[in-house]
Amino acid sequence: MMTDAPEVPVIAVDGPSGVGKGTLARALVQRLHWHYLESGALYRALGLLAERRGVALDDARGLAQLAAGLELLFADGAVWLDGEELGDSIRTEAAGRRASQIAPLPAVRAALLRWQRRCARPPGLVADGRDMGSVVFPSAACKIFLTASAEARAMRRFKQLREKGFNVNIARLLRDIRERDWRDSKRSVSPLKRAGDAFELDTTGLSADEVMAVVFKRVEQTWPLLKRG
Ligand code: DC
Repeated sequence: MMTDAPEVPVIAVDGPSGVGKGTLARALVQRLHWHYLESGALYRALGLLAERRGVALDDARGLAQLAAGLELLFADGAVWLDGEELGDSIRTEAAGRRASQIAPLPAVRAALLRWQRRCARPPGLVADGRDMGSVVFPSAACKIFLTASAEARAMRRFKQLREKGFNVNIARLLRDIRERDWRDSKRSVSPLKRAGDAFELDTTGLSADEVMAVVFKRVEQTWPLLKRG
């Protein structure tokens, strides 16, 4: 079965909300000068577009149609939709909840699958999300699965959002994270689940730098590329 593009090297970074996938993935991208697919931003952007166009979050057909024509671009650390930089409008907790609501719909996932696989272009791709290693790029040569306690993730998100000037409540964040964990891991299509061949790292007590050090070493074992960086 030809499921992805094995000729292009892919690093898949998966894990639950707020675990630091983005920080790690961006560090890898910087080091390797590869392309970056932040798949969560796809679901977030689609949720935003649905809201703007008045498409209900349970309208599978309407959402799949929107997904099929999604004009999304990742460039210089920013996400662009139809030529508009989305900025923080897709970074709010509400945007995350919307994304998590539409993500279980099989028609939506199918429509986004091809889009995601097209991102695998030379010299390589770092892809982060929930099902990068298990469904989208099952033959990725390097798969990382990050975990951390819900409390640690809520605290990290709290600091991140506060730095961005958002007014946030830690108890609410923790509740949101738990709800999203439940939805993302219980859905029937592409649930959050570690691929059998993924390297799992519990980051609860680790700093971002410590996580990077462990993962870079792991990636280096797969490709000697990092040594050149
Ligand atoms: O990683 P994130 O918080 O930006 O993701 C937002 C939501 O999108 C998440 O709750 C579930 C969904 N998602 C998904 O189902 N599959 C992915 N590969 C990435 C995100």
